[in-house]
Order: sequence, then C-alpha cells, then structure tokens
Amino acid sequence: MADYKENIIPHSHQIRLEDRILQKGFRPKLVWFTGLSGSGKSTLASGLEAYFFNKNVSTYVLDGDNIRSGLNNDLDFGDIGRKENIRRISEVSKLFVDAGVLVFTAFISPFNEDRETARKLIGSENFIEVFVECPLKICEERDVKGLYKKARAGEIENFTGISSPFEKPTNSDIKLNTAEHSLDECLKKLIEEIEPKIRL
Ligand code: ADX
Repeated sequence: MADYKENIIPHSHQIRLEDRILQKGFRPKLVWFTGLSGSGKSTLASGLEAYFFNKNVSTYVLDGDNIRSGLNNDLDFGDIGRKENIRRISEVSKLFVDAGVLVFTAFISPFNEDRETARKLIGSENFIEVFVECPLKICEERDVKGLYKKARAGEIENFTGISSPFEKPTNSDIKLNTAEHSLDECLKKLIEEIEPKIRL
C-alpha cells in the first residue's frame, strides 16, 4: 500500500512571511533558552518578552512546565519523551515565527542532537540559542520547585543533572552565567544581542 504521506499536498497561502514582516516592522526569530532546571530560563524568557512586548513587538513564551501541562502532557522525561517534547516545540515555534511572532522557548532541551534539529527546522538565521549556564550545585541550592530534593531522595526518575544527562551546548549564540551575573545584567546582554537582529 502506498505511503499515506504521498497524498498530503501543502497549500501556499497568499500572505507570506515577508508580508507579515513588513506589516509588523520587525523580523521574527526564535530565541531558544537551554539549561538546567532552576538555571533561570523561564525568568529570562519572561523578562525579555516583557521588554520587547513593551516595544510593540508581537511576542510569545513557550515554557516547559506550561507546555507539558497541555500539548505535551502525554510525554514523560525519558530520552524518547524529551526528544518528542522538543520536536513538537520546534514545530510549534516554527509556526509562531511564520506567523510573525518573536518566540522565546524555555525548555531544558538537554540533548545536542535535538537542539540542532530545532535549529535546522527554523533555519539558522532565525534561531538564537541561549545557553543559561548555572552550576548544578547552585540550581540545587535554589531548588525553587523543590524537585532537586525529591530527585536526590530517589522520588523522581530521570531528573536532569542527577539521573539524566545535560549535554552542554558548545556552539550557542549567547552564553549567560546566572550564578555570576544578575538578572538585569543578563537581560541587558540579551537585549544588546537580540534587538539588532530583529530590526528591518
Ligand atoms: S526537557 O528536558 O524535555 O526539555 P522541559 O523543559 O520540557 O524538559 O521540562 C522541565 C521541567 O519539568 C523542569 O523545570 C521541572 O520543573 C519539571 N520536571 C519534572 N520532572 C523532571 C525531570 N525528570 N527532569 C527534569 N525536569 C523535570
């Protein structure tokens, strides 16, 4: 039997990304935050979004715990679940960027291969990877959600940094250390790097 995918023929719509860019006055990108749980991804994504939103840019944040409460609530934290999590996020982000939105994603995204797949899917020119570096020890001390304590007690399996790996990015576009720099310093650096990239 023929592959069902042969019968899917994508439609080209009248309004193109270039039309949206001209209407909105900025170039949408995907800003991809990666790092350990508690490293500061969501806080930075949120602060950065607020900055651009207040400049009248269409923005949206896609965030691990939020997406895993809805779209991805069928996925676990095993390697296959994480891979599918990142694949779906990448596809959703691609749609958002195509719709003319500046997107910020905050997912641990621990595997090099999955981050590279996301970059290829979006296109390297529209993908800005931000490595939020923070030593495990500090993330564990912060333990904002109390999950490290549970993971150390053996109550959570496959916990990143404890019983599941985090592959450090080696070719990030931006690297920030939230243990050494304040939130404001990190946001300043992000804005300096990203604002020129979205200008027409
Ligand atoms: S990812 O590895 O698949 O990219 P994602 O960013 O979606 O992870 O979700 C991470 C969040 O889920 C963490 O910030 C934490 O609050 C929660 N969480 C629950 N279980 C785990 C686990 N086993 N490992 C890491 N984070 C977990």
